[in-house]
Amino acid sequence: MESKQMWGTRTGFILAAIGSAIGLGNIWRFPYMAYENGGAAFLIPYFFALITAGIPILILEFYIGHRMRTSVPSAFEKLGKFGWLGWWQIVISFVVSTYYSVIIAWALLYSFFAVTKSWGSQPEDYLMNDFLGITNTETWSSNFLGGFQWHILIALAVVWGLAFIILHGGVRKGIERANKIFMPMLFAIILLILFRSVTLEGAAVGLNALFSPEWGQILNSSTWISAYTQIFFSLGIGLGAMITYASYLPKKSDITNNAFMTALANCGFSLLAGISVFGALGFIAQQKGMPLDEVATGGVILAFSVFPEIINAMPMGNIIGVLFFVSLLFAGISSLVSMAEPFISALGDKFNIKRKHAVNWTLGSTALISILFATGSGLHLLDSIDRSVAVLSLSITGLMMVVMMSWKLRLIPTARHYVNEVSDFSLGRWWSVCLVVLTPLVLGYNAIMTLIGDIQHNYEGYPNSLIYTSWIVAIAILFVALCFHFMKRSEAK
Ligand code: PHE
Repeated sequence: MESKQMWGTRTGFILAAIGSAIGLGNIWRFPYMAYENGGAAFLIPYFFALITAGIPILILEFYIGHRMRTSVPSAFEKLGKFGWLGWWQIVISFVVSTYYSVIIAWALLYSFFAVTKSWGSQPEDYLMNDFLGITNTETWSSNFLGGFQWHILIALAVVWGLAFIILHGGVRKGIERANKIFMPMLFAIILLILFRSVTLEGAAVGLNALFSPEWGQILNSSTWISAYTQIFFSLGIGLGAMITYASYLPKKSDITNNAFMTALANCGFSLLAGISVFGALGFIAQQKGMPLDEVATGGVILAFSVFPEIINAMPMGNIIGVLFFVSLLFAGISSLVSMAEPFISALGDKFNIKRKHAVNWTLGSTALISILFATGSGLHLLDSIDRSVAVLSLSITGLMMVVMMSWKLRLIPTARHYVNEVSDFSLGRWWSVCLVVLTPLVLGYNAIMTLIGDIQHNYEGYPNSLIYTSWIVAIAILFVALCFHFMKRSEAK
């Protein structure tokens, strides 16, 4: 029997939880989402979602991990025979890690490109044609995947190699140690970028655009759905990462305080990233003499096309460029290991295999699948799977967890009592009200609206084949999760 994995220090745990939370989502998703959904006005639904759903669910997940001290499926099974939901959450997390790793691989390559600005004077063309070798969706039938992009494959191998080293080190010597290095550096880097960005000419234009409130947007249900989705993905709740990390806490550990620190550091970082990104966007808009909304964007295009343009135009841009891509790399790797850990922990626990082997199986299979995204169709696949798997399934598994815990098992009062015993400050009744009434209603409404929206319009005009692919993947994930669930059942008999 291997000795139980455990964090070395409280700071180690908090840094690891922050490392899981802060990821690509904070840097390239939050700023544009805030801008698109009403600027400063977006902060109202965002903080509402944080306080009524994000933090309460984070506390609930820390509770489940700390109290059950085992992997997600076992914890759910012991709480009330819903191990399948645990498997579902961690299989989703597994799938997210297959493409998340590819984006980190791009960031790795771009941190080298930034030194000489080797993307040239047309970064968008470079990205689409040379770098990604993107396939034309019209001619898909003839060459579906469009061939491998070898440079991406090599970078991907390096990313998985790093994750392999960290996870093989174990919880204390691997994950904790890595986060103790990555997190302080990440905060230092973002502050440097922020300073450079707000002192650029035109930065004020970008910041004004980001922060000027459009109050009307608050009345749109889509603004609220975006706020909740962002909080869920950003805090990494509903995917088993936080439950798993909390299962390695020693018995005497504060829960409430740790959850607040994690959530606040994460949202603070998002705001810093928002200011950095929009300051820089204001600068490039002014340089090009364009209105801001023509340069403002998020996701892949922001990081790998607009940012390179900004770097081209900025004095000493290569230094900021390297820092920017390295920040994506650090933020990404620390999230990536937290996506793999729940599966590793479950394999070890449910199939009784050594951690070493569980790491090999988990990373080996995710790495193998991730190769699909290093092809000419990688970006198309990534977008559609991200949409259906991460965005849609995530809120559903989160909703199910809350409903199971509060309506079916009625565990919230017991949980509150337990959390208050171990924590510095006590949770009031608001916590129960949020979990029992408010969050299930809002999440249920969101899930239905998202589903209807999905059926009504094609996501970003993608061909039907891709929409079907993503649904098939979503269903396959559920199926795989059930297989794991029943495999364990038959073993137990
Ligand atoms: N929170 C991470 C981000 O914002 C992503 C993540 C999701 C990490 C789920 C762990 C689990 O990028």
